[in-house]
Amino acid sequence: MRDLRRTPAKALSALILLMVTPPAHAEDGYRLWLRYDPLPRPVRQRYKAAATEIVVQSDGLIARSAASELQRGLSGLLGVPVPRKTRVDRDGAIVGRVEKMAGIGSEGFAIHMARVAGHRATVISANDERGLLYGSFALLRLIQTQRPVDRLAVTDRPRLQLRLLDHWDNLDRSVERGYAGESLWDWQTLPERTDPRYRDYARANASIGINGVVLNNVNSAAEILTEPYLMKVRALADQFRPWGARLYLSARFSAPMDIGGLKTADPLDPAVRKWWKAKAGEIYRLIPDFGGFLVKANSEGAPGPQDYGRSHADGANMLAEALASHHGIVLWRAFIYSAAKEDRAKQAYDEFKPLDGQFADNVILQVKNGPIDFQPREPFHPLFGRMRRTNVAMEVQLTREYLGQGSGIVFLAPMWSEALDADTCSPRCGTPVRSTIKALAGVANVGSDLNWTGNHFDQANWYAFGRLAWNPAATPSSIAEEWVRMTWGNHPGLVRRVVSIVAHSREAVVDFMTPLGLAHQMATDHHYGPGPWVCDLAQPSWNPCYYSQADAHGIGFDRTASGSDAAGQYAPKIGGCFTDLKCVSDDYLLWFHHVPWTYRMRSGRSLWEDLVTHYDQGVRTVEAAKSQWDLVRPFVDVQRHTAVAATLDRQRIEAKWWRNASIAYWQSRSQLPLPRRHAPPPHPLRWYEEIHFDTVPGSLVPGTGHQLSCVPPRGGPPCAL
Ligand code: GCU
Repeated sequence: MRDLRRTPAKALSALILLMVTPPAHAEDGYRLWLRYDPLPRPVRQRYKAAATEIVVQSDGLIARSAASELQRGLSGLLGVPVPRKTRVDRDGAIVGRVEKMAGIGSEGFAIHMARVAGHRATVISANDERGLLYGSFALLRLIQTQRPVDRLAVTDRPRLQLRLLDHWDNLDRSVERGYAGESLWDWQTLPERTDPRYRDYARANASIGINGVVLNNVNSAAEILTEPYLMKVRALADQFRPWGARLYLSARFSAPMDIGGLKTADPLDPAVRKWWKAKAGEIYRLIPDFGGFLVKANSEGAPGPQDYGRSHADGANMLAEALASHHGIVLWRAFIYSAAKEDRAKQAYDEFKPLDGQFADNVILQVKNGPIDFQPREPFHPLFGRMRRTNVAMEVQLTREYLGQGSGIVFLAPMWSEALDADTCSPRCGTPVRSTIKALAGVANVGSDLNWTGNHFDQANWYAFGRLAWNPAATPSSIAEEWVRMTWGNHPGLVRRVVSIVAHSREAVVDFMTPLGLAHQMATDHHYGPGPWVCDLAQPSWNPCYYSQADAHGIGFDRTASGSDAAGQYAPKIGGCFTDLKCVSDDYLLWFHHVPWTYRMRSGRSLWEDLVTHYDQGVRTVEAAKSQWDLVRPFVDVQRHTAVAATLDRQRIEAKWWRNASIAYWQSRSQLPLPRRHAPPPHPLRWYEEIHFDTVPGSLVPGTGHQLSCVPPRGGPPCAL
């Protein structure tokens, strides 16, 4: 062996660096935003005196998680082991306490400086261990993002009682609209084996305040309610409990027939009511803190109370009654539409508004953020603010079904905030949607992929969802900055560039997919890629052409009084603005109005020219994101940098595809020449129509002619899409 004493200093430090540098495979994204890598030395010094030891004065299950997290986080960030003690015996202790605190509820916390046993300490206080856990993560977050902690006086509490992730996971481990591998839940090996990922997942959720998880798809299989599966659910609940989260199940309304041997699932039938009560009792015996049921009923073919001539309230209340004595709740989804001729955007309101006041106290009506279906941009759902005698939750989708699925960077917080901040003017103006809801539910975007979300930047949407559920008034930019600092690093140039990429990413998608209030132009079934020409599906509202109403005269869906009058479902001030061409924002123009191609926009340009300009802008933003990402290469590990660069390349291809396919189609309607200075699509419309995916993103159906793949030769001309 070589004598290290004789190794020159430079070589020695290179050797040490080699020994401490994590191997490349460690940068797989598994650690999410909880990386806890040592802070740079000078920064570390600032925190060392404030975190000398950890004293958590509570020994409950959740408090133990808080203590272990503090130790793991602080030891990692400070690069030295921070010990856990039972008593404060020196300055700089981090103390966790459960004690009576006013104004922060059961999940809030305070972090303040105090003297404990004669020593200077940072005290995290809470009424309940859950607050202690959230306070611990909050303190770690401050250090991770390099905020000062020497004079802390923070109090915080979640504004929404329920902060839930809904898994659309099937029992065969497939995931509806999932783009990150298989379902996390390995039903086959449960309950005997509990994969450590379950706990890691619960911990990550706790770090952002998520306090409930629905395990299975809303298009549910009744089998989840059978005893063998309930045993598996119990094993999972044991993994979530130490991290402050409850489990919920999607319940199939016809379960009494499917697995209970009854001839009906009529909610007013005494035998059916008895069956659900017994089922609830069985579940609570196994899982005493079970959260309750999520139900999709009479929607897209799912069974429901209307099969028996009963109302949604009858169905929800029957389940609520079964859960009430156990303090369980029913999340009843408002996502319904039928083949009726009525504008699809109106159907949920028409169905549920008359039921306001009829739902039991432990029912929450779960309403999607917009009236159609998780589009890149929709106005807020008219039920918000209008169901004043009903508990209401907002449902958003983290998995990007309609926003590029697994490709590129799309930060969804601006979209969710748009809905949360929207003024309902109900009962009076100044009543934002966020003040009318009790819960935020998000369709989860995680799966078995090593980095959880498939795409590294989709972790940002998971993170942002939790932070917005905790505080729906938080700004997307502050959330983005936190996430970037924790996930990618605190270097100012890196933070600035990545925050800027993230900040523009959602608007880019709106621009290159569905600008100016267009919606649902995605290809059929899978919703990946453009399909504006599709017009032949049996149910009118499944057709993109139904939403665009594009013809030789113009484009857009007339939802004013001369059309479907969907705008009439909003409070008069809001609806009045939507219907007034002088008031409606460009963002919603074609959602509410059918206007001529030559319509003069605020920009002074014609609608046709503005539309094309938006598509080009979308492509440009994606290209700019890639350039910015190239510039942060020195600050990011090779493994993650390469993966993100590749997905941005993919998004650039898709943006061009969307732009060209859409313009080719609109031009076939408008018959107008392309505005000057805008490049014509390189192919005829037919070429775009023929691109057809079998699985998405994936291979083409044989026989359709051409691939959507484009790897330009180095320095060569860009691909013609
Ligand atoms: C969308 C989505 C479906 C899903 C449904 C729902 O329509 O495409 O996959 O089942 O929403 O929210 O129930």
